[in-house]
Amino acid sequence: MEAAYSKLWLDYKPLDITFSGSLAIRCLKGVRRDCAAVSELITALSALLPQAELTFGADSASYIVELDIGGYLGPEDYTLSADERGATILGGSETGLLYGVFAYTRELITEGGFTRISRRVSPALPLRMLDHWDNADGSIERGYSGSSFFFKNGELIISDRTVHYARLLASVGINAAAINNVNVRGDAVRFITPDYYRKLDMLGDLLERWGIKLYLSVDFSAPMSVGGLPSADPLDPRVQSWWKDKAAELFRSVRGLGGFLVKADSEGQPGPYAYGRDHADGANMLARAIQPYGGKVIWRCFVYNCSQNWRDTRTDRACAGYNTFAPLDGRFDDNVILQIKNGPMDFQIREPVHPLFGVMKQTNTAAEFQLAQEYTGQQLHVCCLIPMIKEILAFKTYNGRDKDTVLDMISGAAAVSNTGDSFCWTGSELAGANLYGFGRLCFEPSLPAEDILDEWISLTFGQNEELKEKLLFILLGSRDAYESYTVPLGLGWMCKPNHHYGPDPWGYEFDRWGTYNRADRDAVGVDRGPGGTGYSELYYPPLSDIYGSADTCPDELLLFFCRVPYTHVLKSGKTLIQHIYDSHFEGCEQAEEFARLWRSLEGSLPEQVFKNGCERFREQLRCAAEWRDIVNAFFHRLSGIPDEKGRKLY
Ligand code: GCU
Repeated sequence: MEAAYSKLWLDYKPLDITFSGSLAIRCLKGVRRDCAAVSELITALSALLPQAELTFGADSASYIVELDIGGYLGPEDYTLSADERGATILGGSETGLLYGVFAYTRELITEGGFTRISRRVSPALPLRMLDHWDNADGSIERGYSGSSFFFKNGELIISDRTVHYARLLASVGINAAAINNVNVRGDAVRFITPDYYRKLDMLGDLLERWGIKLYLSVDFSAPMSVGGLPSADPLDPRVQSWWKDKAAELFRSVRGLGGFLVKADSEGQPGPYAYGRDHADGANMLARAIQPYGGKVIWRCFVYNCSQNWRDTRTDRACAGYNTFAPLDGRFDDNVILQIKNGPMDFQIREPVHPLFGVMKQTNTAAEFQLAQEYTGQQLHVCCLIPMIKEILAFKTYNGRDKDTVLDMISGAAAVSNTGDSFCWTGSELAGANLYGFGRLCFEPSLPAEDILDEWISLTFGQNEELKEKLLFILLGSRDAYESYTVPLGLGWMCKPNHHYGPDPWGYEFDRWGTYNRADRDAVGVDRGPGGTGYSELYYPPLSDIYGSADTCPDELLLFFCRVPYTHVLKSGKTLIQHIYDSHFEGCEQAEEFARLWRSLEGSLPEQVFKNGCERFREQLRCAAEWRDIVNAFFHRLSGIPDEKGRKLY
């Protein structure tokens, strides 16, 4: 029977070398022969060198891979040294060793054989997490890759796919996974009841073998929905003791449990506000319940008023997260990690970096990204997010610390997963690069985007220089293209309401979600400067000054921060309106070029991959043309200003 899923970048093929000697694995200092690192090494070596005889510990072997645990290393660190005669992989624990084995395997494949290596690696971020928005019924919120492979009709599924999932995550260093949607609904409310413990325990144990902690999204009002109490007030002793008992039961019953992920007081989810308490009260109450078991609470900062009156121009959704959490800095327990979306709105193609990253100096924080391409083409459009994630991590907050970038401030990163039960896991093969790259970046953020993608292409599609060059061109240009033909200059939104796919310039303009473009016949954009909503003031200088004025605001964020007339001249020397027209035409041309390049790869890619890509590019081009023509027509009709180049604007 054909497999129901692709092995992605772990599909090891024989290396193109002649090696007729014998291979040996030698396990030192109590490295257990049945640990994941050893089994992974056996899987890799026997696939890469199928003709070689593989044994354990034979000194006479022509190539020996020695596995060892080094007490002086951090548990997830590894060192790797190799030459033509053998390799030594040393891990700080069996997990570090596993990471070392994956790194070694990568090296064998990308180098095409045994090579000299010497390196010591420690992961940059202690928490490297995937957040699945999978529902108990098997659907996935904002899922573009089929149904859930975790759940079906309220049941938790554990299969060989789950094992492969764990291997994929471990291979890029992801060490935590929240398996259910942050909007906890339906049967998911009962995941923290004995009904699910047996399966959760099996899953937690499976994941832990691959160094991954299991997290559950929990309902803040569980003391009521599960426990039958009259309240979920975090300061009520009955509520506190309910959570303490629940935590004791859960951690006793489920191996490998890492803790809870919580969306509270956000888009209808219950939270501490109902009881006049704040988010520190809410998060700490849960944190204290799970602290004895080493558990962590990942508490989301996506809190805003989603019932805004569009007529109100003073209230600004962009300020909400900051205003809610900045005053609470220093009040969170050590085992609380605030999870902050990369920008202040909601995963648009371009947003400024969230101002909370700079200001939360006494709180553990993690950055949240969205690999699920909700607003970035829903995995039908190619949109590689690796350069964007790198940009955000490297962003200087100017908060007065010597080390002041986002990466310096956070201790973790989480990404809304783009996976599902489609054959290639991510709907589109090219979207797999985002999953791979996210993990690699959390571990080694200094890796250039190009190197990560180069590696991903080699591991996934093999070593073919022409293929690599073309795929790199597509992937590295894809974000710019998407931004150009949708909503450039930081304006965002303008997508169709609810499902968020395709253009609708006024789709959210008179709605309650706080996402407005304020376009009229003279000007467009939101004034978030000191004379406007004041959002720009939430940054440290010089950023507050730079963002606060149209003269200094970078073009790519201009309409996020400023309201400017269509005749405003950008730093590029073009007028705003001409830039809007040009960028839509250019973005579409870029997308056409990507599609042309992809079509030229027929024969260099597996047929199924090629065909899937062709279909997706066809849709991307159709949709990009809609964006171009609708957004350009919208601004043309409002402004009455013709295109300098005389193109048709409808
Ligand atoms: C977006 C998305 C929702 C999701 C929310 C969140 O608004 O559209 O489906 O629940 O983000 O991050 O919680």
